[in-house]
Amino acid sequence: MKVLVIGGGGREHSLVWKIARSPQVSKIFCAPGNPGISELAECIDITADQTDLLCEFAVKEDIDLTVVGPEAPLVDGIVDVFSKHNLKVFGPDRKAAILEDSKVFSKLLLRKHGIPTADFKCFDDHSQARRYVLSREAPIVVKADGLSKGKGVFVCKTNDEALQAIDSIMKDRVFGNAGDQIVIEECLTGEEISLLAFTDGRTIVPMESSQDHKTVYDGDKGPNTGGMGAYSPVPIMTSGLYRRIEKDILVPTVHAMNKEGRPYKGVLYIGLMITSAGPMVLEFNVRLGDPEAQVILTRMKSDIVPIMLATISGGLDSVDLEWFPHASVCVVMTSDGYPGQYDNGKEIKGLDSLKDQEGISVFHAGTKFENGKIVTNGGRVLNVVACGKDIKEAQTKVYEAVSKISFDGAHYRRDIADKAIK
Ligand code: AMP
Ligand code: GLY
Repeated sequence: MKVLVIGGGGREHSLVWKIARSPQVSKIFCAPGNPGISELAECIDITADQTDLLCEFAVKEDIDLTVVGPEAPLVDGIVDVFSKHNLKVFGPDRKAAILEDSKVFSKLLLRKHGIPTADFKCFDDHSQARRYVLSREAPIVVKADGLSKGKGVFVCKTNDEALQAIDSIMKDRVFGNAGDQIVIEECLTGEEISLLAFTDGRTIVPMESSQDHKTVYDGDKGPNTGGMGAYSPVPIMTSGLYRRIEKDILVPTVHAMNKEGRPYKGVLYIGLMITSAGPMVLEFNVRLGDPEAQVILTRMKSDIVPIMLATISGGLDSVDLEWFPHASVCVVMTSDGYPGQYDNGKEIKGLDSLKDQEGISVFHAGTKFENGKIVTNGGRVLNVVACGKDIKEAQTKVYEAVSKISFDGAHYRRDIADKAIK
């Protein structure tokens, strides 16, 4: 089989790494890929937003399976275009991808179908939003409606912070049209869990739990990012808690999308807060998480390719998904300044020392080749993943590995997975 993976971040590197282990796969292409991915796949010079060129390439190369990594092409309808050309493509179509494209849509869906989530109100008017915030007590959460690379959510400790968030989304329009509407919601407290599942719209096959670390600094301080690190499994995810999430959230969400005439096929990612009143939905994503994929895929024992094919064909009821018992921890190394401004082009040293080291993977995100060297080329630069018999061992190993890599201004959190150990 020939497989095309779309995207060029750490999630896509881990996807290519996993797909390369499938005995069914003879060749992998990745568009656009990155220097790390180029060791496993042929990288092609087409970006993830060039749907027509990607489709042309897939037809010309007779691609048997296309896997879409990031959300933006899904929201733009890449699955609809590929399907029209009878190409097998993994991910939800445009109608179903609205679950991530619009927080207003997803919050209203949750309310309509009685699925637990924080109480909220939606606004398309800047002054009304400000007035509402002034009538509430902080902490309060302000969210841009549309896609914002994980940076559109503001958990505000004071009303002033919330007013600033509203101004930057609706007046300064820092997220463009994604800020035409906002959601203002109650601030929830508890432990966060990411639960990802394959679904063909009928059968749901859950993956192992993971936990992201969204904020840029240790101790969950600073602004939200795309994700600074992750671990799997999450100790608080007991089988009892999973059953409750399955019954109250996972199954009702898949059914709700069917009832809305938006049947969902692909990976459904549910971001959850486990509150004292039970699990509540924070957000939906319509693809694998980044960096959750990096810890989940390094724990997945089964071949992922037949599972993806069954998701597309509607045959998920006949697949088994097996896991390795080990734990995985991922630490994201970023450029100084991320999630704000940062410089690119810093030489990365030490990558060779980790090659072929048992239980360690270095997935590239924002890197590129320059004059025969690998240099930084993005906010999130590298994802270092270690596997261990438990979270503690994986954490020790991952930080040992991280200490061997250096580039000017490298930043990473020192407390990834501490919560699981405590
Ligand atoms: P989201 O992109 O909606 O998952 O939000 C990003 C992060 O903001 C989440 O992972 C949480 O850490 C935080 N967050 C979002 N919504 C809430 C909420 N209602 N209460 C507390 N924290 C939240
Ligand atoms: N790590 C969160 C996300 O992928 O959206």
